[in-house]
Amino acid sequence: MKTILYITSSVRSFKEEETQHQSITRLLGERFLEQFRSRYHDVEIIHRNLSIDPPSFLTQEFIAAAFEKAELTPEQKAVLKMSDQYIEEIKQANIIVIASPMYNYGMPAVLKAWFDKVIRVNKTFSFDLARGDEPLEPILSGKSLVLLASWGEFNFRKGENKYHLNHLSSHIEQLAPYLGAEQFFEIASEYQEFSDDRHRASKLSALTQVKELANNLASI
Ligand SMILES: Cc1cc2nc3c(=O)[nH]c(=O)nc-3n(C[C@H](O)[C@H](O)[C@H](O)COP(=O)(O)O)c2cc1C
Repeated sequence: MKTILYITSSVRSFKEEETQHQSITRLLGERFLEQFRSRYHDVEIIHRNLSIDPPSFLTQEFIAAAFEKAELTPEQKAVLKMSDQYIEEIKQANIIVIASPMYNYGMPAVLKAWFDKVIRVNKTFSFDLARGDEPLEPILSGKSLVLLASWGEFNFRKGENKYHLNHLSSHIEQLAPYLGAEQFFEIASEYQEFSDDRHRASKLSALTQVKELANNLASI
C-alpha cells in the first residue's frame, strides 16, 4: 500500500461541474490523484485542506513545549496536539503532494503555518552542535515531494529570468528534506492573470505533466 499526503492551500475551491473561478492548483491535485489511483489501486489519501482548516500560528507556549526536555504537562501536550497529528500524517506518507498558489511571490500563509508546525526539533530534524556549522539534520527519509503550483505571471521556473522572484518553489524545495523528501518534483501552470492562449497552453501542459508524473510515481 502507498499513502499520499495531499496538502491544499488555495482559497479557491475546485468543483468538476463549475467553470468559473476554479482553483488551478486543486485541479492539478485532483488530476494527479485520479491518475495515480488509476495506476496504483492500493492507495490511501490523507487530505489536509489548509484553507478550510488552517493551522494556528506559532506561540511562545508552542515553542516552549516543543523544546521541553522534561515530561510534558497535559497543557503542553494539548498545545502540541495538532503538530503531532500533522507530523504523524507526514510519517505515514510515501508521497507528499502540495498544491500551492503563489501569493505575493511566496506560499500562502496557511501553508507556511503548516510548515512551522511540522518542522520540529527531535521530530522532523535533529539539532547537534557537534556537527559544527551544520547542526541541523533531517530525521525522516525516503519520500517524494510533488509541488503543484500556479501563478498569475510567468517565467518563474528554474533557469528563467524571473526565478529569483519566485519565493514559493525555492522555499518549498529548501524545506523538502525536513519532510523526509529525497525527491522533489514541481509542475506549475502560469499566466493565470492573463486568461489568454498562453494561459490555456500552460494549464494544458501542466495537466499533461501531472499525468506523466503520476504514472511514473505509481510505477515505482
Ligand atoms: C492574494 C493573491 C496574491 C497573488 N500573488 C501573486 C503573485 O505574487 N504573483 C503571481 O504571479 N500571481 C499571484 N497571484 C495569482 C495566483 O497565483 C493565481 O491566481 C493562481 O492561479 C492561484 O492558485 P489557484 O488557482 O489554485 O487559486 C495572486 C493571487 C492572489 C489571490
